[in-house]
Amino acid sequence: MGKDVIIACDFSSAEKTFEFLDKFTGKKPFVKIGMELYYAEGPAIVREIKARGHKIFLDLKLHDIPNTVKKSMAVLSNLGVDITNLHAGGTIRMMEAALEGLTRPDGTRPLLIAVTQLTSTDQESMENDLLIKAPIDEVVMHYAENAKKAGLDGVVCSPLEAGKVHDRCGESFITVTPGVRFADGEIGDQKRVMTPEQAKLIGSDYIVVGRPITAAEDPVAAYERCVREFVD
Ligand code: C5P
Repeated sequence: MGKDVIIACDFSSAEKTFEFLDKFTGKKPFVKIGMELYYAEGPAIVREIKARGHKIFLDLKLHDIPNTVKKSMAVLSNLGVDITNLHAGGTIRMMEAALEGLTRPDGTRPLLIAVTQLTSTDQESMENDLLIKAPIDEVVMHYAENAKKAGLDGVVCSPLEAGKVHDRCGESFITVTPGVRFADGEIGDQKRVMTPEQAKLIGSDYIVVGRPITAAEDPVAAYERCVREFVD
């Protein structure tokens, strides 16, 4: 599994997205399409970015009954994305159904990774709102192990959890980690952050970087800095 930097294209329209991607002349960074852009532009945006030669992580975080997730994953698989995801909270059965739906007739499929507990959920809200009383670190690791049991390829997690996930689920179980910031950059609304270099040391397989690249004065230079610190 090659390490890579994935740019979170959190834009509200195709126009803004292409204005951004057009800056990368000759380069085809791995991009993440999230709910905002997908709901604004529909599957066409996935096809267009794919046709331009980018790899795509489609971040729609599915969570529904197994049959619905299976059928929806079959649709997403036809879009030819490289990675997609769901909530591990949907149970092992839902994750297994998702894999079935995602697998194409020729046996190929995009990588499937799970969100464990969202990083916006803390111990207090998990206990009070969800009535889950175990320590949040344990819940995250348990969900990661469930994803592994269901046959998934990895998890989205904080870079601070990536090492522990590899210890529990194996080195080949992929960790995709947002919450990355340059040492001299703005933190914004992210709370627990790491630099690309630290994420590399701790064993993240992919880092997801949004604003440090998309809001930079020179996004291409910021992307190249990420690649230098994380991949090279
Ligand atoms: O701009 P920034 O680098 O904070 O963007 C991070 C991206 O990763 C956003 O698209 C955000 O939704 C996503 N993400 C996250 N934390 C998670 C899961 C996803 O920041 N736990």
